[in-house]
Order: sequence, then structure tokens, then C-alpha cells
Amino acid sequence: MRVTSVIRAVVLLLTLLGTWFLMQTYFQHSWRAISLRSWLGASKKPSSEKLPRHKCGNQKSCPQNYFAFKIISGAANVVGPSICFEDLVLMSSVKNNIGRGLNIALVNGTTGKLLKTDAFDMYSGDVTKLQTFLQGIKRGTLVLTASYDDAATKMNAKVRAYFTELGSSHVGTLGFRDNWVFLGAKGLMNKSPFEKHIKNDKETNKYEGWPELLEMEGCAPRKMD
Ligand SMILES: *[C@@H]1O[C@H](CO)[C@@H](O)[C@H](O)[C@H]1NC(C)=O
Repeated sequence: MRVTSVIRAVVLLLTLLGTWFLMQTYFQHSWRAISLRSWLGASKKPSSEKLPRHKCGNQKSCPQNYFAFKIISGAANVVGPSICFEDLVLMSSVKNNIGRGLNIALVNGTTGKLLKTDAFDMYSGDVTKLQTFLQGIKRGTLVLTASYDDAATKMNAKVRAYFTELGSSHVGTLGFRDNWVFLGAKGLMNKSPFEKHIKNDKETNKYEGWPELLEMEGCAPRKMD
């Protein structure tokens, strides 16, 4: 009686082990077949694991002596902007250092080191604080800027002139609740190629009262002495 149950248990155990072994071999084979097929190019599905990751999650990597950056403006008055430089997030909601208005990060254009970040309320804030900030920027500094909600109400001619000096072409026409992303530099370039501006326009706005957010990525040249 007892011997029979022991044998039964052993047979059951062996059957289970055998099934497990067969299943495992079968799946390994089918896995191999799948990977061979994708290797041969039959499956065009891009595997995200195999794509190289670039700094700031950008599409392209930057050549030597260029800094990778990505600047995203705020979305309406809901999602905050973010500024990434050389794979470091300098400003974001998570870092808790952004605000409605203009968000600005200053970076040493030679070393790529962060100098400072600040957010300026452009709707009801004191614009003199921004003027002082812009006035203090030294030659060889990279200036990364992202708008959030409204970046223009309190903007005056002096502030616009400072940004124009940093290479901006659009700051002159920046209006209420326009979105704006900009990378400029003091004494590095006349007109910055790194700028995007979208008007707040009822006809084309993505959100009620605000245009679509702006995203800009690229490679900024290092200042060589
Ligand atoms: C950048 O860093 C270099 C080396 O530390 C320094 O000599 C230079 O003054 C800095 N420039 C700015 C604009 O901070």
C-alpha cells in the first residue's frame, strides 16, 4: 500500500519534471527562432533596447566640443517646463525649481558647469529682478530659457534688448501666453539658431487659451579660448 503511493508520487514528480523540461526546451527554441528572424530583418519592429541612448534622450549624439541640450516649454498652465543640459536636468517640476513665467539656466560655455537657475514671474512679478539677472550675465555664458504659462506681460524693452543681445530673434514679438524656448549666449553668436516661438492664437491653439508646447533639442558649441 505504502510502496504504491511512493511509486505514484515518484511517477507524478517525474512527469512534472519531464513536462517542465519539454516546455522549457520548446520555448527556448521559439525564442531563438524569433530573435533569428529579427536578426535577419524579417521583423522591422524597432527594439528600443537596441537603440543607443543619447544625452537628454535626444535623437542624435553631439560631436566633440558640443553640449547636448533639450528645452521643453510648459504646456498651458498645467505642466511645467524642463531644461536638460549634458544629460543633467537643470530645471523641472520634479526638481521643484521652475515657475510660471520665464525659467532660465546659466551654464559656463567652456566647462559646461551649471552657474545658476532662476524662475521669473512675468505676469505679476517684479521685472527689475529679471533685468538685474540678465545684466549680470558674463561673456562666455550659455543661457537656456523656457516659458511657462505667460512669459510676456511684464516684459519690457530693456529685457527684450538683453535677450536680443544673447541672440534671440523672436523676443521682440513675444506676447501674452506665447510659448518660447531659447538657447543663447553672451558673446558667442550674433543670432542663435536655437530658438522656437509659437503664438497664442485662438484659431490654432492646442489648448484653450494656450498654444502647443515647444520642444527643442540640439548641440550647442563649446566656447574655445
Ligand atoms: C568658466 O569657467 C572657466 C574655468 O573655470 C573660468 O575661467 C571662466 O571665467 C568661466 N566663465 C564663466 C562665464 O563663468
